[in-house]
Amino acid sequence: MHHKPVIAANWKLNHGPTDAKAFLQRFLAQAPKMNDRTLVFFPSAITVTTVVDGLRERPDIWVGVQNVHSEAQGAFTGENSVLMARDVGARVVLVGHSERRHVFGETDEMTTKKMALICQARLVPMLCVGETLEEREAGATASVVERQLTAGLAELDDSQAAGIMLAYEPVWAIGTGRTATPEDASAIHSVLRAALGSRLGEKAAAGVPILYGGSVNRGNAATLLSAADVDGLLVGGASLDADSWASIVRS
Ligand code: G3P
Repeated sequence: MHHKPVIAANWKLNHGPTDAKAFLQRFLAQAPKMNDRTLVFFPSAITVTTVVDGLRERPDIWVGVQNVHSEAQGAFTGENSVLMARDVGARVVLVGHSERRHVFGETDEMTTKKMALICQARLVPMLCVGETLEEREAGATASVVERQLTAGLAELDDSQAAGIMLAYEPVWAIGTGRTATPEDASAIHSVLRAALGSRLGEKAAAGVPILYGGSVNRGNAATLLSAADVDGLLVGGASLDADSWASIVRS
């Protein structure tokens, strides 16, 4: 691994600007600057500016958005564009989160387009991949995540592809309290690493952080983070409370 662990908070549809300010005040008081890890917050689009402003003194902490539209601009009421995300100070963009795919019907074609737009805007995409319980039980986990990865990389050149972040989030583990075992996570991360390797070569593939997400909490974070090939954590529910989040980032 040639990079620091990446510990990311996906707030989903929680914490508006008022809550975010209170969160940051409490969190920053117990989270001194950390040089050995990269922290990322993914607030809702409406809350990004508040979080960016609240982290002015903390360039070690990145802010991202949870989604962007698959077209650069135009008549798309209710959407946010990648250039707007850059404009408000986001550095990372989540792509293909399981809720985007399974609640909002996001397709592989859409993730392909989003990944290309994000790289063109020189932001870092964090591509989420993961199988449903049904796919897992059918033994299709590897083929599902490889397909999702291939779609995500389809329009990127090699240097863009080498600059992405990946998150493995098994759908059955998200918000369910059921975590993948460290061994399960390592096994799928190594499938992803191998797929990256055959596209980019081993050295570039080793530089792509692969995060695990799905019911991470302060009790299991350290164990998951120390599993082979797990380069970071993408945390939903347990990132919403400042004390819980502070304890996870110290893992
Ligand atoms: O993106 C993070 C995520 O989907 C996991 O959610 O609540 O299971 O940590 P949670």
